[in-house]
Amino acid sequence: MLSTKIEKALNQQVLLEAESSQVYLAMASWAEVQGYEGIGGFLYKHSDEERMHMLKLVKFINERGGHAVIPALKQPAPKYTGIKALFQQVLDHEIHVSSEINKLVDICLKEKDYTTHNFLQWYVSEQIEEEALARKIMDKLKLIGDDKAGHYMFDRDLATIQA
Ligand code: FEO
Repeated sequence: MLSTKIEKALNQQVLLEAESSQVYLAMASWAEVQGYEGIGGFLYKHSDEERMHMLKLVKFINERGGHAVIPALKQPAPKYTGIKALFQQVLDHEIHVSSEINKLVDICLKEKDYTTHNFLQWYVSEQIEEEALARKIMDKLKLIGDDKAGHYMFDRDLATIQA
């Protein structure tokens, strides 16, 4: 059985994962409209992944006797100044998510909820991967700079990268 404190903290994470999915979906749509098919495809997949992260939490909360509350979401920014700004936002967002997961892990230890602590280890590993991927993408974009041909290649590259 989840304590009220853990249930509340997990529900906050449901909101954050749902927001992540929504933000990446807005980014995907913008990229697609700009003609960046590879980037769009990558971000659509990433958005689906975040929805899966949310669902996993919803199921866990309910299985442990809590109630996962499905939150309202704000509208994400519909436009971006460019792909570099967009991916910087992805990286910043993932760093934020990692820090929230770490806080959750900390609460579990303080509350001695080892079951939830164990469940969250999957998210800890997932965040390491997601942050590393976002950093790798930003490094590539820094190398490319404003080169148009470079952006074209980058878009093609991203079509082959797993979100
Ligand atoms: Fe589910 Fe990328 O945080």
